[in-house]
Amino acid sequence: MRVACLGGGPAGLYFAIAMKLSDPAHEVVVVERNRPYDTFGWGVVLSDETLANLEAADPVSAADIRKGFVYWDDIAVHYRGEVMRSSGHGFSGIGRKRLLNILQDRAKELGVDLRFETEFDSLEPYRDYDLVVAADGANSKVRTTFADVFKPDIDVRACKYIWLGTHQKFDKAFTFIFEETEHGWIWVHAYQFDPETATFIVECSEETWRRFGFDTMSQDETIATCERIFASNLGGNKLMTNARHLRGSAWLNFPRVLCETWSHENIVLMGDAAATAHFSVGSGTKLALESAIALAGYLKTERTLAEAFRRYEDERRTEVLRLQSAARNSTEWFEDVERYLHLDPIQFNYSLLTRSQRISHENLRQRDKAWLEGAEAWFEAQATGRRPSASRPPMFAPIRLRGMELKNRVVVSPMAQYKAVDGTPTDWHLVHLAERAKGGAGLVFTEMTCVSPEGRITPGCPGLYAPEHEAAWKRIVDFMHAESGAKVAMQLGHSGAKGSTQLGWEEMDAPLKQGNWPIMAPSAVPWSPNNQTPRAMTRADMDRVRDQFVASAEMADRAGFDLLELHYAHGYLMSSFITPLTNKRTDDYGGALENRMRFPLEVYHAVRKVWPDDKPMSVRISAHDWVGDAGITPAESVAIAQMLKDAGVDIIDVSAGQTSIDARPVYGRMFQTPFSDRIRNEVGIATMAVGNIYEPDHVNSILMAGRADLCCLARPHLSDPYWTLHAAARQGVMVDWPEPYYAGRDQLYRLATRVEPPAEKV
Ligand SMILES: Cc1cc2nc3c(=O)[nH]c(=O)nc-3n(C[C@H](O)[C@H](O)[C@H](O)COP(=O)(O)OP(=O)(O)OC[C@H]3O[C@@H](n4cnc5c(N)ncnc54)[C@H](O)[C@@H]3O)c2cc1C
Ligand SMILES: Cc1cc2nc3c(=O)[nH]c(=O)nc-3n(C[C@H](O)[C@H](O)[C@H](O)COP(=O)(O)O)c2cc1C
Repeated sequence: MRVACLGGGPAGLYFAIAMKLSDPAHEVVVVERNRPYDTFGWGVVLSDETLANLEAADPVSAADIRKGFVYWDDIAVHYRGEVMRSSGHGFSGIGRKRLLNILQDRAKELGVDLRFETEFDSLEPYRDYDLVVAADGANSKVRTTFADVFKPDIDVRACKYIWLGTHQKFDKAFTFIFEETEHGWIWVHAYQFDPETATFIVECSEETWRRFGFDTMSQDETIATCERIFASNLGGNKLMTNARHLRGSAWLNFPRVLCETWSHENIVLMGDAAATAHFSVGSGTKLALESAIALAGYLKTERTLAEAFRRYEDERRTEVLRLQSAARNSTEWFEDVERYLHLDPIQFNYSLLTRSQRISHENLRQRDKAWLEGAEAWFEAQATGRRPSASRPPMFAPIRLRGMELKNRVVVSPMAQYKAVDGTPTDWHLVHLAERAKGGAGLVFTEMTCVSPEGRITPGCPGLYAPEHEAAWKRIVDFMHAESGAKVAMQLGHSGAKGSTQLGWEEMDAPLKQGNWPIMAPSAVPWSPNNQTPRAMTRADMDRVRDQFVASAEMADRAGFDLLELHYAHGYLMSSFITPLTNKRTDDYGGALENRMRFPLEVYHAVRKVWPDDKPMSVRISAHDWVGDAGITPAESVAIAQMLKDAGVDIIDVSAGQTSIDARPVYGRMFQTPFSDRIRNEVGIATMAVGNIYEPDHVNSILMAGRADLCCLARPHLSDPYWTLHAAARQGVMVDWPEPYYAGRDQLYRLATRVEPPAEKV
């Protein structure tokens, strides 16, 4: 086979090597514009896993690469005058030039035709090759030429960075340096890649970059300025550039590249030309090398070129998307870093280490137990005001909101049961809620409980608008208080346009088959074409609903609830005032956000007046309508949360969606937590995170990184009422159990962790 590799970076060179190893009869040419010893950049990071893959593909070059490695185990974070160091991270670095020279030598030895100082402007000279590999980097000319086929999606990221080198030693640790300057924050990713030289990537926001005047500086001026900013970290060493060939200041914005397809006729994209991963997760070279190995393999095992391309794309795309997702989290963390700069250094460090969401709480424990336990002890001390004698995971730290103290950070999220009769909760609710209180969660929510009969979602929804409702709830709350240490939260709501619908396990959100009741909403906008069109509310309707919320809140207090939540999410009445998708009013209650929030805030204030001062209130919001800019966006939810904070709300319960049938949510582990993170750290208010949080590790990571103050788990509590007790046993933490269950507890601990329970309680 005759193969042309356009571009002699890691992808092009390694593919050439792999093809020659696969069959020395292949005729392989590599076309590269630079000379053999020219290169941009300094060092690259490779993991042990990647090296094992290289060893399997070509032990000869792998041995040379291994010889060129510099190893380090620690990550050091310089922040607010402190240097925090954690261990067990296991990196290895190699100079990019060294890596390329090893690959060039190996390719030459195997008979690859290396054509340096050869620029290609078109594919014409390579048309008669059997296979053309476009390995021409992030700004691929080939990809641009066939843009209508490959359909690239290039997202130019917000931060500015410059890739420099230095002889200052960073050989003890991969180092992050955050420096506050007169023009804003600027930071460095530094790592050693040979005994004399370290990579020193400087990064900052575009605003900071402009305020410094980097946009008009030459490379020498940029270097002099960076040397001044980071003088205390450079020990008198200079910063160096090897990007003199770039015009201007050599500052770049990272382009995140995705392509709809990677092949066309006999042309295939590889490495950065096909997909890029932000340098902060250090995986671009890994992707390039591993893709080269994969395609060479499929060209051997598959019968046709098309078949090999299909297998290559199927296999590599999954891996690329996985890394790009981690890289996106990491990129966004740096772009939003100013949001986290108020955090205590310990929490800031934790947030940085877990930014890509590839490293969790327990991963950190495996890497550096002592460091993690120190961080846990810090968290506990923040929560209790006392330095603990021993550390425990953050999910077990108490929290106080006004006069209510929760024994831990796990919340049973509100979940409709549809088991009420005429609004009265039944023994189902007693057993269901009490079981979850016995199961160890710090706070247990009722489902959405409605302020009026017509405000119910379904005929099975409970209410708090009649004396028998109050009495039934009081019985439940009294039992939960008497038999568990859990606090109990009432979620009050009104269904609005989503009312008069079927039970959850029938046809959800669809109108009743018979017996529908009239519904109302801010505007006459039906939930779906199949639902009733609601009546647009008058001011008199609003007065009535407000008073109903107040009356229900008074009942909730008398019934003994500890926390009151107003349900302003998921497309129900209050939510439908807030989102412009359903609020089409032209009066004081529609239009700008300020207007759309007017009635929800009025209801909050009226309820707060009757809800006792020492009891906290939360509001659940949908922080994202998932419909683009037409609806609520995470940015607007920050403004909503700010208004709620100003009104005196104690904690925001940050949910998302269910406000439109056109929503296109992006699901995943902890997928709504970024909205909580943003609100908590930009507004400065306590939050609850919710949505696909199902592992103790998720809860601990969210809390420890300061992404939320409480974690709500819904579905996990349907399958396991004792989720918290089980999580405690798995983590070897002793917590209170119901006395009659001690024998079960002891067996569980013996089986789970071999931690002995305290003898006196047996
Ligand atoms: C600041 C920064 C830090 C990074 N750090 C790391 C890291 O630590 N670890 C890691 O794994 N990755 C890192 N990367 C990513 C890594 O550099 C790339 O992912 C990797 O080099 C991709 O290899 P490639 O062969 O696809 O492309 P490239 O390395 O970009 O190679 C493409 C080659 O094609 C040549 N070329 C392009 N157009 C033409 C043309 N028209 N004619 C002739 N030749 C042409 C170029 O000269 C170049 O040599 C980093 C990237 C940046 C920007
Ligand atoms: C059966 C069921 C009923 C629900 N009912 C309510 C409700 O009454 N009020 C509410 O705010 N959210 C309700 N939700 C949403 C959950 O509280 C939670 O936000 C959502 O399920 C995501 O969390 P999870 O991934 O832990 O399940 C319900 C969810 C389920 C599964």
